[in-house]
Amino acid sequence: MPDPQNPKVVLVTGSSSGFGLLIAARLSPQHIVYASLRNPNKKQDLLAEVERRGGKVHVLPLDVTDHASIRSAVNGIEHEQGRIDVLVNNAGYGVGGFFEDLSDQDIRKQMEVNFFGVQNVTRVVIPIMRKQGKGKIINLSSVSGFQANACFGAYSASKWALEAFSESLHYELKLFGLDVHLVEPGTYRTRIFHENARYAENFDNPLSPYYPISQFLRRRVMDYVENCRKDPETIARLVERIIERPGAPFRNIPDLEGKMLFALRRILPFRFYSWIVRKALFTGLQEARYPSPN
Ligand SMILES: NC(=O)c1ccc[n+]([C@@H]2O[C@H](COP(=O)([O-])OP(=O)(O)OC[C@H]3O[C@@H](n4cnc5c(N)ncnc54)[C@H](OP(=O)(O)O)[C@@H]3O)[C@@H](O)[C@H]2O)c1
Repeated sequence: MPDPQNPKVVLVTGSSSGFGLLIAARLSPQHIVYASLRNPNKKQDLLAEVERRGGKVHVLPLDVTDHASIRSAVNGIEHEQGRIDVLVNNAGYGVGGFFEDLSDQDIRKQMEVNFFGVQNVTRVVIPIMRKQGKGKIINLSSVSGFQANACFGAYSASKWALEAFSESLHYELKLFGLDVHLVEPGTYRTRIFHENARYAENFDNPLSPYYPISQFLRRRVMDYVENCRKDPETIARLVERIIERPGAPFRNIPDLEGKMLFALRRILPFRFYSWIVRKALFTGLQEARYPSPN
């Protein structure tokens, strides 16, 4: 249970929509929440949700790829509160596309936000937490952080890198009394699949050898997302639990889909796992008149 006598100072990145918005709003009645957005003009949905829950947030401009905006945001919080108890590295997006359709720039931008962006913010917050001798860093990874799929290689690479970084940081920061946690959601219907969806430079190029299959996969993913009934509030609730609970686990997989994938990936011989994944992804592809991937 949240302790009203002991509100935490929390910085959340990417609070304009999706998980970031819900995390900031959920924590807002009990904690001192700095909800950061790369574009503060997009704060209306956040403020409406915070108001609906009877909370309060401080809205800050912060682009995880812009060092000056990070320094200014973090220095401002330290100046106002004298501490940062929790950092939620949530900001991110996914670029869809086969490797040959992705430009070098597509992949670098993906790493710049999902991987280096987390490092940029974490680097500035750690010294403050280290001085306090306590603090929690919660990184929004994904099931794509421990299993990769065709057409999502760049996104998976960014989340696998984030997982390796988080795991090593867990050991390094334990020495100073700080905790690092991973949250690994499966699919939830947020703007990441709609307004914020990004595609490879050649995703829609009919001359690409991957064109029919990437169009097929986009339809398959979007059908899945449209039918997805999981509530994104689950992730906000989980982050709240990690904050409240001493000794919360390093790795947090919120849904059955993720738990099953994690277990199968570990237990099954890769040849068998790969067969299942290819069946799940490509069944129906024949009708799309594309050569069989077998
Ligand atoms: N939804 C899922 O199924 C799912 C599953 C697993 C993991 N995740 C992860 O969960 C996190 C949140 O995703 P979501 O589903 O909530 O997506 P979302 O609704 O698209 O929200 C993404 C947020 O990240 C922000 N952002 C993007 N680039 C940024 C940058 N350079 N600096 C600061 N903020 C930036 C966006 O801001 P703008 O509004 O300005 O673009 C937005 O606020 C991401 O890390 C994502 O990879 C999502």
